[in-house]
Amino acid sequence: VRHLLGIKYLNEKDIELIFETADQFKEVINRSIKKVPSLRDITIANIFFENSTRTKLSFELAEKRLSADVLNFSASQSSVKKGETLIDTVNNILSMKVDMVVMRHPNPGAGIFLSKHVNASIINAGDGAHEHPTQALLDSYSIREKLGEVGGKKVIIVGDILHSRVALSNIFALKLQGAQVKVCGPKTLIPKYIESLGVEVEPDLRRGLEWCDVANMLRVQNERMEMSYFPTTREYTQQFGINRELLDSLDKEIVIMHPGPINRGVEITSDVADSSQSIILHQVENGVAIRMAVIYLLASQLKT
Ligand code: CP
Repeated sequence: VRHLLGIKYLNEKDIELIFETADQFKEVINRSIKKVPSLRDITIANIFFENSTRTKLSFELAEKRLSADVLNFSASQSSVKKGETLIDTVNNILSMKVDMVVMRHPNPGAGIFLSKHVNASIINAGDGAHEHPTQALLDSYSIREKLGEVGGKKVIIVGDILHSRVALSNIFALKLQGAQVKVCGPKTLIPKYIESLGVEVEPDLRRGLEWCDVANMLRVQNERMEMSYFPTTREYTQQFGINRELLDSLDKEIVIMHPGPINRGVEITSDVADSSQSIILHQVENGVAIRMAVIYLLASQLKT
C-alpha cells in the first residue's frame, strides 16, 4: 500500500498493524523520548486547502518526532490564490524532492485524483464530506484504549452525518473491527445510503444513548450547510444535543467522544465535554501516535 486515501481501502489486519505500531510510538513518547531517527531521509509536505488545527499540527508533530524534513503549505497564502492548479502546485512541491504529501482538500476524492497524477505517497487528511481516515483510526484507537477492544462495542455517531467525513471513515473502521454502529441526527442530515453500510438509524437520542457504549458527537458543519437541510440551532440542541442532565438520567456511564472543533452548547455542553466521561483530549493525544504509525508504515513502502 503506497497511499492512505480512505479506510475503505484498508482491511482489519491493516488497522491492527497501524494500532500495534502506534502502541510502540506511544510508549516511546510516554518515556519522554520526543524524537526517533526513523525517517531522517524522508521529506513530507503538508498541503492544506481547508482550515485545520488538530490534524495539521498533529501531522507536523508526528513527522518531526520521526525526524522527517517537513514543508507546510497553506493554500490561502500560496499561488493557488493566483489560479495555480492542484496538480501544478503539487508537482512543483514534488520537484523539490518531496516523498510524501499529506493533503486536506474541500473536494471529495481530491486525494484519489492526486494519487493518479503525481509520483508520491499521498495521505488523505480530509477530503470534503468523503473520508478522514486518520481521524477514524485515532477514534477507534481511543475506544480500544478506553474499553480494551473495539469489536462487539456499540457506538452511536450523533449529528450531521450527511456532511461528515469523520462519520463515513468511522463507520468503515468500526464495522471492519466488528463494532455495532448506529447513527442519530435530523432526518435531513442522514444520507439515504447509510443503511446500505450496515448502520441502523436511531431517530431518538435518548434511546440511542441507552443502547450505546460510546457516543461520538459530531460538529454541525455550518460551512457545508444549505439552509434547507438544517433545523434551527435551538431545535437541533433540544433534540440532538448532549448535556449533563441527559447523561445523568441514563442508568450507565457511556464514553463521550468528539473529533473537534466543538460547537460548545450546540451538540455538547461544556460540563459534558470537559468531564471525566469525555475522552476528547485523549483522541487528540492519540492522533500523534496514530499519524506517526501511518507515516512510518507508508515510508517503509517507499524504501522497497
Ligand atoms: N478533527 C479535525 O479534523 O480537526 P481539525 O479540522 O482542526 O483538523
